[in-house]
Amino acid sequence: VTVFLVGAGPGDPELISVRGARLLGSADVVLHDSLARPLVALARPGAEILDVGKSPGSTPVPQSQINRLLVEHGRRSQRVVRLKGGDPFVFARGAEEVRALQAAGIENSVVPGISAALAGPTSAGVPLTLRGLARAFTVLTGHEDPANWSSGYAGALVALRGTIVVMMGTTYIRQIARRLMDAGLSPDTPVAAVRAATTRTEEICRSTLAGIDDVVLPSPLLFVIGGVAGIDLRPLAPNNNACPQW
Ligand SMILES: C[S@@+](CC[C@H](N)C(=O)[O-])C[C@H]1O[C@@H](n2cnc3c(N)ncnc32)[C@H](O)[C@@H]1O
Repeated sequence: VTVFLVGAGPGDPELISVRGARLLGSADVVLHDSLARPLVALARPGAEILDVGKSPGSTPVPQSQINRLLVEHGRRSQRVVRLKGGDPFVFARGAEEVRALQAAGIENSVVPGISAALAGPTSAGVPLTLRGLARAFTVLTGHEDPANWSSGYAGALVALRGTIVVMMGTTYIRQIARRLMDAGLSPDTPVAAVRAATTRTEEICRSTLAGIDDVVLPSPLLFVIGGVAGIDLRPLAPNNNACPQW
Protein backbone atom coordinates (compact mmCIF):
# COMPACT_ATOMS: atom_id res chain seq x y z
CA VAL A 1 0.00 0.00 0.00
CA THR A 2 1.42 3.39 -0.85
CA VAL A 3 -1.26 5.89 0.13
CA PHE A 4 -2.95 5.78 3.53
CA LEU A 5 -5.94 7.94 4.36
CA VAL A 6 -5.51 8.38 8.09
CA GLY A 7 -8.13 9.73 10.48
CA ALA A 8 -6.37 12.20 12.78
CA GLY A 9 -9.12 12.19 15.40
CA PRO A 10 -10.91 15.23 16.79
CA GLY A 11 -7.95 17.44 17.70
CA ASP A 12 -6.04 16.16 20.72
CA PRO A 13 -2.91 14.55 19.22
CA GLU A 14 -3.30 11.63 21.66
CA LEU A 15 -6.57 10.69 20.02
CA ILE A 16 -5.13 9.40 16.74
CA SER A 17 -5.05 5.58 16.50
CA VAL A 18 -1.85 3.66 17.22
CA ARG A 19 -1.76 2.54 13.59
CA GLY A 20 -2.35 6.07 12.33
CA ALA A 21 0.50 7.44 14.47
CA ARG A 22 2.84 4.67 13.31
CA LEU A 23 2.09 5.31 9.63
CA LEU A 24 2.41 9.06 10.10
CA GLY A 25 5.80 8.57 11.76
CA SER A 26 7.12 6.63 8.78
CA ALA A 27 5.58 8.60 5.88
CA ASP A 28 7.72 10.22 3.20
CA VAL A 29 4.96 12.68 2.33
CA VAL A 30 2.08 13.98 4.47
CA LEU A 31 -0.84 15.89 2.99
CA HIS A 32 -2.99 17.29 5.77
CA ASP A 33 -6.15 19.29 6.44
CA SER A 34 -6.06 22.40 8.60
CA LEU A 35 -7.88 20.64 11.48
CA ALA A 36 -5.22 17.91 11.45
CA ARG A 37 -2.29 20.35 11.57
CA PRO A 38 -1.31 19.66 15.23
CA LEU A 39 -0.77 16.00 14.35
CA VAL A 40 1.97 16.87 11.85
CA ALA A 41 4.32 16.94 14.85
CA LEU A 42 4.20 13.12 14.72
CA ALA A 43 5.69 13.03 11.21
CA ARG A 44 9.35 12.06 10.93
CA PRO A 45 11.92 14.82 10.48
CA GLY A 46 12.60 15.27 6.80
CA ALA A 47 9.16 14.19 5.63
CA GLU A 48 7.59 16.42 3.00
CA ILE A 49 4.58 18.20 4.55
CA LEU A 50 1.86 19.67 2.37
CA ASP A 51 -0.96 21.72 3.86
CA VAL A 52 -3.97 21.21 1.62
CA GLY A 53 -6.36 22.53 4.26
CA LYS A 54 -9.10 25.01 3.80
CA SER A 55 -8.17 27.55 6.43
CA PRO A 56 -10.57 30.49 6.71
CA GLY A 57 -9.48 33.48 4.68
CA SER A 58 -7.21 31.59 2.32
CA THR A 59 -8.23 30.21 -1.05
CA PRO A 60 -9.31 26.61 -0.59
CA VAL A 61 -7.37 23.95 -2.44
CA PRO A 62 -9.93 22.45 -4.84
CA GLN A 63 -10.73 18.79 -4.22
CA SER A 64 -9.67 17.91 -7.79
CA GLN A 65 -6.22 19.29 -7.07
CA ILE A 66 -5.95 17.34 -3.81
CA ASN A 67 -6.89 14.18 -5.71
CA ARG A 68 -4.25 14.96 -8.32
CA LEU A 69 -1.58 15.56 -5.67
CA LEU A 70 -2.43 12.25 -3.99
CA VAL A 71 -2.09 10.39 -7.26
CA GLU A 72 1.20 12.13 -8.16
CA HIS A 73 2.77 11.47 -4.77
CA GLY A 74 1.34 7.96 -4.70
CA ARG A 75 3.23 7.23 -7.93
CA ARG A 76 6.47 8.79 -6.72
CA SER A 77 6.79 8.05 -3.03
CA GLN A 78 7.18 4.96 -0.92
CA ARG A 79 4.62 5.95 1.65
CA VAL A 80 2.10 8.78 1.52
CA VAL A 81 -0.19 9.70 4.40
CA ARG A 82 -3.28 11.77 3.72
CA LEU A 83 -4.15 13.04 7.19
CA LYS A 84 -7.76 14.09 7.70
CA GLY A 85 -9.50 15.52 10.75
CA GLY A 86 -11.77 13.10 12.60
CA ASP A 87 -12.65 10.10 10.45
CA PRO A 88 -11.76 10.13 6.73
CA PHE A 89 -15.25 9.04 5.72
CA VAL A 90 -17.33 11.45 7.83
CA PHE A 91 -17.98 14.67 5.88
CA ALA A 92 -14.43 14.60 4.65
CA ARG A 93 -14.54 13.64 0.96
CA GLY A 94 -12.44 10.58 1.74
CA ALA A 95 -14.49 8.47 -0.66
CA GLU A 96 -13.62 10.77 -3.55
CA GLU A 97 -9.94 10.50 -2.73
CA VAL A 98 -10.09 6.70 -2.56
CA ARG A 99 -11.91 6.60 -5.89
CA ALA A 100 -9.30 8.86 -7.51
CA LEU A 101 -6.52 6.58 -6.23
CA GLN A 102 -8.36 3.46 -7.38
CA ALA A 103 -8.94 4.96 -10.82
CA ALA A 104 -5.21 5.63 -11.08
CA GLY A 105 -4.41 2.07 -9.96
CA ILE A 106 -2.66 3.21 -6.79
CA GLU A 107 -2.79 0.98 -3.76
CA ASN A 108 -4.41 2.59 -0.77
CA SER A 109 -5.87 1.89 2.62
CA VAL A 110 -8.04 3.81 5.08
CA VAL A 111 -7.31 4.07 8.80
CA PRO A 112 -10.44 5.07 10.75
CA GLY A 113 -10.32 8.01 13.13
CA ILE A 114 -12.45 9.21 16.02
CA SER A 115 -14.94 11.57 14.48
CA ALA A 116 -15.64 14.88 16.17
CA ALA A 117 -19.29 13.85 15.84
CA LEU A 118 -18.64 11.35 18.63
CA ALA A 119 -15.74 12.96 20.48
CA GLY A 120 -17.38 16.40 20.69
CA PRO A 121 -20.38 15.32 22.74
CA THR A 122 -18.31 12.94 24.88
CA SER A 123 -15.73 15.62 25.62
CA ALA A 124 -18.56 17.93 26.70
CA GLY A 125 -19.83 15.29 29.13
CA VAL A 126 -22.87 14.60 26.94
CA PRO A 127 -23.82 10.94 26.40
CA LEU A 128 -25.00 10.60 22.78
CA THR A 129 -27.34 7.79 23.77
CA LEU A 130 -28.98 7.25 27.12
CA ARG A 131 -31.50 4.66 28.17
CA GLY A 132 -34.91 6.27 28.29
CA LEU A 133 -33.76 9.55 26.78
CA ALA A 134 -32.04 8.90 23.46
CA ARG A 135 -32.08 5.59 21.64
CA ALA A 136 -30.62 6.89 18.37
CA PHE A 137 -28.39 9.63 17.12
CA THR A 138 -28.25 11.35 13.78
CA VAL A 139 -25.28 13.27 12.43
CA LEU A 140 -26.03 15.82 9.77
CA THR A 141 -24.26 18.53 7.90
CA GLY A 142 -25.52 22.03 8.56
CA HIS A 143 -23.63 23.26 5.54
CA GLU A 144 -26.74 23.61 3.38
CA ASP A 145 -29.66 25.96 3.81
CA PRO A 146 -32.43 23.94 5.51
CA ALA A 147 -34.86 25.78 3.25
CA ASN A 148 -33.73 23.15 0.71
CA TRP A 149 -34.57 20.21 3.00
CA SER A 150 -37.07 17.90 1.37
CA SER A 151 -40.53 17.91 2.86
CA GLY A 152 -40.63 15.45 5.72
CA TYR A 153 -36.90 15.67 6.46
CA ALA A 154 -37.26 17.73 9.64
CA GLY A 155 -40.25 15.63 10.69
CA ALA A 156 -38.24 12.44 10.26
CA LEU A 157 -35.41 13.84 12.40
CA VAL A 158 -37.86 14.75 15.14
CA ALA A 159 -39.71 11.40 14.89
CA LEU A 160 -36.50 9.52 15.69
CA ARG A 161 -36.63 11.07 19.17
CA GLY A 162 -32.87 10.73 19.36
CA THR A 163 -29.89 13.05 19.59
CA ILE A 164 -29.11 15.28 16.62
CA VAL A 165 -25.51 16.31 15.99
CA VAL A 166 -25.03 19.15 13.52
CA MET A 167 -21.58 19.60 12.00
CA MET A 168 -20.60 22.62 9.91
CA GLY A 169 -23.70 24.36 11.23
CA THR A 170 -22.31 27.79 12.09
CA THR A 171 -24.09 29.58 9.26
CA TYR A 172 -27.47 27.88 9.32
CA ILE A 173 -28.00 26.72 12.91
CA ARG A 174 -30.75 29.29 13.53
CA GLN A 175 -32.70 28.17 10.47
CA ILE A 176 -32.12 24.52 11.41
CA ALA A 177 -33.46 25.15 14.93
CA ARG A 178 -36.50 26.89 13.45
CA ARG A 179 -37.22 23.97 11.06
CA LEU A 180 -36.94 21.48 13.94
CA MET A 181 -39.29 23.55 16.13
CA ASP A 182 -41.76 23.87 13.25
CA ALA A 183 -41.61 20.08 12.95
CA GLY A 184 -42.59 19.71 16.60
CA LEU A 185 -39.36 19.66 18.59
CA SER A 186 -39.88 21.57 21.84
CA PRO A 187 -38.29 25.04 22.02
CA ASP A 188 -36.96 23.98 25.45
CA THR A 189 -34.91 21.15 23.93
CA PRO A 190 -31.36 21.46 25.28
CA VAL A 191 -28.56 22.38 22.89
CA ALA A 192 -24.85 22.05 23.64
CA ALA A 193 -22.39 23.83 21.37
CA VAL A 194 -18.90 22.36 21.44
CA ARG A 195 -16.00 24.24 19.93
CA ALA A 196 -12.54 22.76 19.25
CA ALA A 197 -13.46 19.65 21.21
CA THR A 198 -10.58 17.80 22.93
CA THR A 199 -8.10 20.64 22.31
CA ARG A 200 -6.72 23.21 24.72
CA THR A 201 -9.10 25.81 23.26
CA GLU A 202 -12.19 23.67 23.78
CA GLU A 203 -15.27 25.69 24.74
CA ILE A 204 -18.72 24.47 25.56
CA CYS A 205 -21.88 26.43 25.96
CA ARG A 206 -25.36 25.23 26.65
CA SER A 207 -28.63 26.72 25.54
CA THR A 208 -31.96 25.62 24.11
CA LEU A 209 -33.41 25.45 20.61
CA ALA A 210 -35.30 28.68 21.26
CA GLY A 211 -32.18 30.30 22.71
CA ILE A 212 -29.89 29.33 19.87
CA ASP A 213 -29.17 32.99 19.09
CA ASP A 214 -27.02 33.03 22.24
CA VAL A 215 -24.60 30.58 20.73
CA VAL A 216 -21.88 32.49 18.96
CA LEU A 217 -18.62 30.56 19.03
CA PRO A 218 -16.00 30.37 16.31
CA SER A 219 -15.21 27.30 14.20
CA PRO A 220 -14.68 24.34 14.46
CA LEU A 221 -18.02 24.07 16.12
CA LEU A 222 -20.68 21.41 16.41
CA PHE A 223 -24.11 21.36 17.99
CA VAL A 224 -25.72 18.60 20.01
CA ILE A 225 -29.50 18.84 20.13
CA GLY A 226 -31.69 16.71 22.39
CA GLY A 227 -32.43 15.86 26.00
CA VAL A 228 -28.91 14.53 26.57
CA ALA A 229 -27.40 17.94 25.73
CA GLY A 230 -28.65 19.15 29.11
CA ILE A 231 -26.46 16.60 30.89
CA ASP A 232 -22.87 17.27 31.96
CA LEU A 233 -20.98 14.19 33.13
CA ARG A 234 -17.54 15.80 33.18
CA PRO A 235 -15.74 14.82 36.39
CA LEU A 236 -15.18 18.30 37.71
CA ALA A 237 -18.32 19.72 36.07
CA PRO A 238 -16.51 22.98 35.29
CA ASN A 239 -18.84 25.88 35.38
CA ASN A 240 -18.20 27.01 31.81
CA ASN A 241 -21.54 26.20 30.30
CA ALA A 242 -22.85 29.69 29.84
CA CYS A 243 -22.76 31.05 26.32
CA PRO A 244 -20.61 34.17 25.97
CA GLN A 245 -22.62 37.37 26.06
CA TRP A 246 -22.49 39.54 22.96
C1 LIG B 1 -15.50 19.05 7.13
S1 LIG B 1 -16.10 18.44 8.65
C2 LIG B 1 -14.94 17.14 8.96
C3 LIG B 1 -15.40 16.16 9.99
C4 LIG B 1 -14.35 15.12 10.34
N1 LIG B 1 -14.05 14.25 9.21
C5 LIG B 1 -14.75 14.28 11.53
O1 LIG B 1 -15.05 13.08 11.38
O2 LIG B 1 -14.77 14.82 12.65
C6 LIG B 1 -15.60 19.73 9.73
C7 LIG B 1 -16.61 19.98 10.83
O3 LIG B 1 -16.47 19.02 11.85
C8 LIG B 1 -16.72 19.60 13.10
N2 LIG B 1 -15.51 19.47 13.91
C9 LIG B 1 -14.34 18.94 13.54
N3 LIG B 1 -13.47 18.93 14.58
C10 LIG B 1 -14.12 19.49 15.63
C11 LIG B 1 -13.78 19.74 16.98
N4 LIG B 1 -12.58 19.42 17.47
N5 LIG B 1 -14.72 20.30 17.78
C12 LIG B 1 -15.94 20.61 17.32
N6 LIG B 1 -16.32 20.39 16.05
C13 LIG B 1 -15.43 19.82 15.21
C14 LIG B 1 -17.13 21.04 12.87
O4 LIG B 1 -18.53 21.07 12.76
C15 LIG B 1 -16.46 21.30 11.53
O5 LIG B 1 -17.14 22.32 10.84
